[in-house]
Amino acid sequence: MKKLFVKTYGCQMNVYDSARMAEALAPAGYVATAAPAEADMILLNTCHIREKAAEKLFSDLGRLAPLKARAGGRLVVAVAGCVAQAEGDEILRRAKSVDIVVGPQSYHRLPDLAAAAERGARPVDTEFPAESKFDRLPARGASGVGAFLSVQEGCDKFCSFCVVPYTRGAEASRPAAAVLAEARTLAARGARELTLLGQNVNAYHGAAPDGGTWGLGRLVRALAEIPELLRLRYTTSHPADMDDALVAAHRDEEKLMPFLHLPVQSGSDRMLRDMNRRHRAADYRRIADKLRVARPDIALSSDFIVGFPGESDADFAATLDLVRAIGFAQAFSFKYSPRPGTPAALRDDQVPEPVKVERLAALQALLSEQQARFNAGFTGRVVEVLFEKRGRHAGQLAGRSPWLQAVHAAAPPTLLGRVATVRVAAVEPNSLAGVLPEAAA
Ligand code: SAH
Ligand code: SF4
Ligand code: F3S
Repeated sequence: MKKLFVKTYGCQMNVYDSARMAEALAPAGYVATAAPAEADMILLNTCHIREKAAEKLFSDLGRLAPLKARAGGRLVVAVAGCVAQAEGDEILRRAKSVDIVVGPQSYHRLPDLAAAAERGARPVDTEFPAESKFDRLPARGASGVGAFLSVQEGCDKFCSFCVVPYTRGAEASRPAAAVLAEARTLAARGARELTLLGQNVNAYHGAAPDGGTWGLGRLVRALAEIPELLRLRYTTSHPADMDDALVAAHRDEEKLMPFLHLPVQSGSDRMLRDMNRRHRAADYRRIADKLRVARPDIALSSDFIVGFPGESDADFAATLDLVRAIGFAQAFSFKYSPRPGTPAALRDDQVPEPVKVERLAALQALLSEQQARFNAGFTGRVVEVLFEKRGRHAGQLAGRSPWLQAVHAAAPPTLLGRVATVRVAAVEPNSLAGVLPEAAA
């Protein structure tokens, strides 16, 4: 038996991929460990989205070097994910401790790469192979109450700031039948909530079981028919791909949760054009309106970039205006980070760091205020919570509201994997404190 330590950086797709890589290595005798010091293989599943994310890999490799030196050939160090794809064999040159470099489309080849590394080779596999890894990876293993399921991968949008089209390749959707089969397996292994993943998940257009293609709205309806699945979510979406069928699914499908992460990046049309986003601020507002008509309780989340090249005070003010107009339940915001190989990185009108810092602080202040207001509105309300795991304190369970808020409550373990009605007793900074009605009575 060999031990595998996995560290995952970046987005939810990497979390999903890490699970599948571990499953792929299981037949080769690898079992998971939480202790890098006792590992026979250390697998780093990396992210290239911003400079800081990518640099984390090299600082972690630096820290691993003594471990590798002590273990010698016994320890295999593998680098997977988007930095692996972007930098390839450059990683082998830069970090002597690395034995395997494997890009996101080659994970099914990991057992062969591991065998080669055990023989002393340093294989690099960053191809975009003709075969789909999804057809070659073993069936899903264990599942938690909440599970991720990749339905679409890659991106053809080429936003001018973004590395994803280069690191994940062209957009590709899995056939609906394959998605449904994996969903049924996960449901049989305990999954009650599925989050469908894709870099651009609402561009999903998979082969339909009966010929033709299905969009995401249709796929959601089919998944909702799996009785064990109580909740469905999907992420991350692009405004330009928010079609009517998907909006209708929000109206009609009770299992589709009323919370949507829909990145907008900026509220300035000039910035949106230069970012090659293919939508304007008004389009985003129209989509938000449509969603709210379809599902009045829907809450929105978003991503923002401040300090994109050429961003003026007026452009940034337009972003704040958009935020005020929409009202977000939650959001992520980032300082623009120039990425190698992307068009925006070459521009000579980069925004100075202190300006980025200032704008980020102003935007985050507004977004936190909106988030706090959204959560404060739940005081005293009754919400349905899907309990996913034990809470931090004895006798507690932790779960999520339909709006993805973390909720904890004193509850019996029999409620794990079930939806219970909970009264919100207090709104804490990072979660809601709930009380079961029986406990309150
Ligand atoms: N697939 C997702 C994007 C993944 S990246 C989507 O299309 O929405 C997640 C977020 O990182 C993006 O929405 C964007 O806000 C941010 N991001 C991407 N590239 C960036 C860069 N070069 N600098 C700063 N933030 C970036
Ligand atoms: Fe990146 Fe744009 Fe594609 Fe999202 S839509 S992954 S931001 S290129
Ligand atoms: Fe990062 Fe790649 Fe995800 S760059 S955000 S790990 S798609």
